[in-house]
Amino acid sequence: MWAVTEDDKDKFGEGTDAPPRGHGAFFGRRKGKTLRPGHADLMSASLPQLRLDLTAPPPADLAGLFPEPVGEVWLEIGFGGGEHLTQRAGENPQIGFIGCEAYVNGTAKMLAQIEQNGLANIRLWDDDAKAVVDWLPAGSIARIYLLYPDPWPKRRHRKRRFLGEEMLTRLARILKPGGELRFATDIDDYAAYALARVARSSEFEWTAERQADWLTPWEGWRSTRYEAKALREGRRGAYFTFRRI
Ligand SMILES: C[S@@+](CC[C@H](N)C(=O)[O-])C[C@H]1O[C@@H](n2cnc3c(N)ncnc32)[C@H](O)[C@@H]1O
Repeated sequence: MWAVTEDDKDKFGEGTDAPPRGHGAFFGRRKGKTLRPGHADLMSASLPQLRLDLTAPPPADLAGLFPEPVGEVWLEIGFGGGEHLTQRAGENPQIGFIGCEAYVNGTAKMLAQIEQNGLANIRLWDDDAKAVVDWLPAGSIARIYLLYPDPWPKRRHRKRRFLGEEMLTRLARILKPGGELRFATDIDDYAAYALARVARSSEFEWTAERQADWLTPWEGWRSTRYEAKALREGRRGAYFTFRRI
């Protein structure tokens, strides 16, 4: 069972039961502890260089967002502390990455990792990922990672979940045919909720053929911060690959 910890309360401000701020299923940019000076400097100096400009139309070829040539572009939604994004971007310099995270401290950590690892293939969005999804051109993304989105385990909060019917349609628009939506969760009910919606969708197919396919992480997987916490609390993750038809 999911339990809100002091850590989460710090992260989410008022705790996950707090009444919504802002509109719809998103609650505005999230701020945790005061940023340490190095991170605050990165937020003011590096973030403006790396942040997407959603006020301008996207380039017809998204490769134009990156200083070095890239073959395709992958999107990570809600990268948290950025461990996964850092790893994948480091391993795949020929791929351009767009990372979205509304939690200010997460973006600051990501900027520090970009600097430490000299990564030139990442662009960031430090607010609601939905704005990026709607800005991106149709068929421009080869892979989307949605790793352990906020679980919203209570029935009355389900509509706040990132992956619902409408979002599947919006993600289908930006994925290339054959592109993948990779979704991980440790919440059985969220898994069932997503699978039911994918089953009804004419735009995605679930690639699994046997149980091991969703119980085994993707190749090269290293645990994220959230996954490590789930494991400590006795919940294991499931890894779903939904292919754009
Ligand atoms: C449960 S955490 C998981 C973080 C990370 N993927 C991991 O596995 O450790 C979910 C993250 O998604 C972010 N998030 C939730 N909704 C978002 C949205 N609409 N746009 C951008 N980030 C969002 C939250 O701030 C949070 O950091």
